[in-house]
Amino acid sequence: MDDEGIKRVAQLMRSARKIVVFTGAGISTESGIPDFRSPGGIWSQYNQDDLTYQKFRSHEKYRKLYWAYDRARYPAMSDALPNQAHEAIVEIERSGLLLALITQNIDGLHQKAGSDPNKIYELHGTVKEVTCLDCSTRWVREEITDRMDREGIEVPYCPHCGGPLKCATIAFGQSLPAEVLEKSFAYARNCDLFLTIGSSLVVQPAAMLPLEAKRGGARLVLVNLSTTPYDQAMDIIVRGNAGPVMDSIMTELRRFSDE
Ligand code: APR
Ligand code: ZN
Repeated sequence: MDDEGIKRVAQLMRSARKIVVFTGAGISTESGIPDFRSPGGIWSQYNQDDLTYQKFRSHEKYRKLYWAYDRARYPAMSDALPNQAHEAIVEIERSGLLLALITQNIDGLHQKAGSDPNKIYELHGTVKEVTCLDCSTRWVREEITDRMDREGIEVPYCPHCGGPLKCATIAFGQSLPAEVLEKSFAYARNCDLFLTIGSSLVVQPAAMLPLEAKRGGARLVLVNLSTTPYDQAMDIIVRGNAGPVMDSIMTELRRFSDE
């Protein structure tokens, strides 16, 4: 493991007071949830062009495809347990240093790990709820999927307005929740350390967040297996598995506070 890099990150975190952590699917692969763009990832199993918001809106056959995709992926997420990387973020929060936890993930593992839901900004929504695309009514996921199982429904529609129901994640072409996006960029601008964990940083506008933090004067740290288009902007890059890397960083950080 990159011990030198780990030590340097711990030193940066030691002098930080307002840390923003930004996570992508790479933080959850060690919990058994495939990411999107690693070899064998989601986009090598499903055609993302068929899973856009426009297609979902356009025809029943795409709504059927989307629901099949969503339901096929859900068991891995609902069975998954947080890993050391999620737990490290809880420790950063409990040390009072976490300004915000911004995630592109929909799997709910940060909440499962014990992160304060009020500090979590889910840019791409959540699989834990279902929403009506017309009247915006929301349900807990199982209220809809249990009915789908009981009544053999493949594509559910809203009991109030007849609109199409979709899991409350943000599909390609769908706008991100405006308030969540606005707050995320504000926190990025006002932090002193922006820590990105497990993202390829290829999907906008989320991928702009590290540069927004840099513009606000923050130091940038990246913990990620592959390269990203923003590697040049990073102050420190630690290449390795997020779980053990984050665990080692926290061990290093605790060593400082024991001194
Ligand atoms: N430790 C560290 N990094 C990892 C690990 C791991 N155990 N596993 C994977 N990675 C890295 C990969 O190398 C990759 O660079 O995490 C990154 C995951 O990138 P993506 O699969 O592109 O996931 P993400 O960046 O979250 O995608 C953003 O794209 O399809 C949309 O809505 C979807 O939210 C998602 C968005
Ligand atoms: Zn409705």
